Amino acid sequence: MENNNKEPQSIIFIVGDLVNLRLLKESDLYTLLSLVNNPKIREISLKRKPITEATEKKWLEKNIIGRDDEIHLGIIVPDKDDIIGIICLYDINQIHGTAYLGIIINPSFQGKGYGPKSVNMIINYAFTHLNLRKINWSTYASNKHSIICAQKCGFIEEAKIKDQYQVGNNLIDEVILSIFRKDFLINNNLKEIVL
Ligand SMILES: CC(C)(COP(=O)(O)OP(=O)(O)OC[C@H]1O[C@@H](n2cnc3c(N)ncnc32)[C@H](O)[C@@H]1OP(=O)(O)O)[C@@H](O)C(=O)NCCC(=O)NCCS
Repeated sequence: MENNNKEPQSIIFIVGDLVNLRLLKESDLYTLLSLVNNPKIREISLKRKPITEATEKKWLEKNIIGRDDEIHLGIIVPDKDDIIGIICLYDINQIHGTAYLGIIINPSFQGKGYGPKSVNMIINYAFTHLNLRKINWSTYASNKHSIICAQKCGFIEEAKIKDQYQVGNNLIDEVILSIFRKDFLINNNLKEIVL
């Protein structure tokens, strides 16, 4: 069907019940810019300096074209086009079958279950379509919401990297959680392909 609006159509990539994951597009620039510079998000982010429009534009252009080692998708609620957050697989390594998962939900939409739904959708995709074997999740030990969200989706704490981050006067451990495809398939009553 022809799209006569100036605004490019949204391309839904993964359909869920509570949220859909869609491709990013140029018009997401200002939503993303305000998300990554949001003071509440900066508190749990590794980035400290302002992320400028020009930097974010370059980042967005790169990710719209697509990259081998990263996949970024916008999180939307059905029948709405504005993204309420962003989810990604990064450091995708096809040789070892691993990747890291990152997610940011706009603070006004947190605590409503959108995070775990989006995480389950992308790990299902990673294990059943990208043939990854293991997904890692790295977070500040102080970021309880992040740890709860990961655990709700079956991630298990694997390691603590001592005093890895400095926030104000505090040194904070990095926590790494992970989920293996075999456990995800068992938890979801799915069968492993035997070649
Ligand atoms: C971590 C995050 C993705 C979780 O997504 P979410 O949609 O908020 O997930 P949930 O709704 O299941 O909330 C997870 C838990 O944190 C609590 N929570 C999350 N945000 C909250 C908020 N703003 N206020 C109060 N409680 C909150 C929820 O109550 C829930 O705990 P519960 O199940 O025991 O009630 C989201 O909070 C977020 O984007 N945080 C900032 C970025 C971040 O930390 N990313 C993860 C690092 S990779």
